[in-house]
Amino acid sequence: MIREVRLHHFRCFETLDFFPTPHRTCIVGQNAQGKTSILEAVCVLLRLQSPRTSTTTELIKSGSDGFSIEGHFGDTRLQYRHTAEGRAISLDSKLQQKSTDYLSTARITWFSNADLDLVKGSGSARRRYLDFLGTQSVPGYRKALRDYERALRSRNALLKDGRPRREIAAFDPPLLEAGDFLLSARADLTSSLSPRAASACLEISSSSDDLKIAYRPGCEMPFSQALAASRPEEERLRQTLCGPHRDDLDFQLNALKASSFASEGQQRTIALALKIAQARHIEAMHSHPPLLLLDDIFGELDTARRNRLLAALPQGAQTLITTTFLDWARDAEEMTVFNLSGKTLTPGSSK
Ligand SMILES: Nc1ncnc2c1ncn2[C@@H]1O[C@H](COP(=O)(O)OP(=O)(O)O)[C@@H](O)[C@H]1O
Ligand SMILES: [Mg+2]
Repeated sequence: MIREVRLHHFRCFETLDFFPTPHRTCIVGQNAQGKTSILEAVCVLLRLQSPRTSTTTELIKSGSDGFSIEGHFGDTRLQYRHTAEGRAISLDSKLQQKSTDYLSTARITWFSNADLDLVKGSGSARRRYLDFLGTQSVPGYRKALRDYERALRSRNALLKDGRPRREIAAFDPPLLEAGDFLLSARADLTSSLSPRAASACLEISSSSDDLKIAYRPGCEMPFSQALAASRPEEERLRQTLCGPHRDDLDFQLNALKASSFASEGQQRTIALALKIAQARHIEAMHSHPPLLLLDDIFGELDTARRNRLLAALPQGAQTLITTTFLDWARDAEEMTVFNLSGKTLTPGSSK
């Protein structure tokens, strides 16, 4: 459970102290007050990555030369400092050279309106979804992802420059090793997610929509064979053409491709179901639900769907919610409310 978060020079905040409660905490504020930034800070603190950018410098308050986030998760004190010299992370004031122990502290599921991209957007959104889960629930996933990306970058740079085959081939073994790991881990994750997303979809929609998720690997045969077979073509196009960087997920609703045939409302339901599936997968793997961060998603949902969503979230999960208005909470369970205005948080009336 996250008990305390302190931001310094993060996004629009000079400093901010936030004390979430064990169950549901809601931050209410107008647009551009910094609601998303607070949830983002919690995600950066616990998972060392932002759900909305991969450029860490964007997180630094403009005009400053670094930011820091500190917090207590359970009895563990976490600190993340980012300066021009780089990143420093510590656990209970002990500097960590590696992120493995640090990242084992807490797990997160992030909900936002951008989740619609999972259904409507490009494959990269769906790969990020799998990776965010994989790095939290599969030992070795994060390392394999790093190794794969490194080998792919080097290989593509050589292909682009038209370098000789033996130089390119030097990166084949690391690419294949990390790639095979990712292909098999993502296939397993999809098998776990598909039934969970199907039942979440039924729980939050009023119809009997049947959701199926299929994993579409970025190579059609064993990776090593596919890579060998693609040689002439990759030399012509000067990039690596097959592998997990081309992976995708296929969503079928009632046996029709969701991105083409599902209504806007159904697509939103699928996106929510995918995130609930992620939370339930984490809960099953760790016998404890993840911390749930719900960024401004209630405005888009009608009352019935809002209540069904709240009921479908893992019970007992600590949940941080942001919203611009509180009307929807009238029938919702008890929660602690903070108002965010002028970059300061003040306790609101709990309900
Ligand atoms: N690095 C930054 N430095 C200063 N201000 C920033 C930075 N990044 C974002 N902002 C500003 O922070 C404000 C709050 O953003 P956000 O957290 O998205 O608000 P909300 O979710 O409440 O609408 C916005 O006005 C945005 O322009
Ligand atoms: Mg926002």
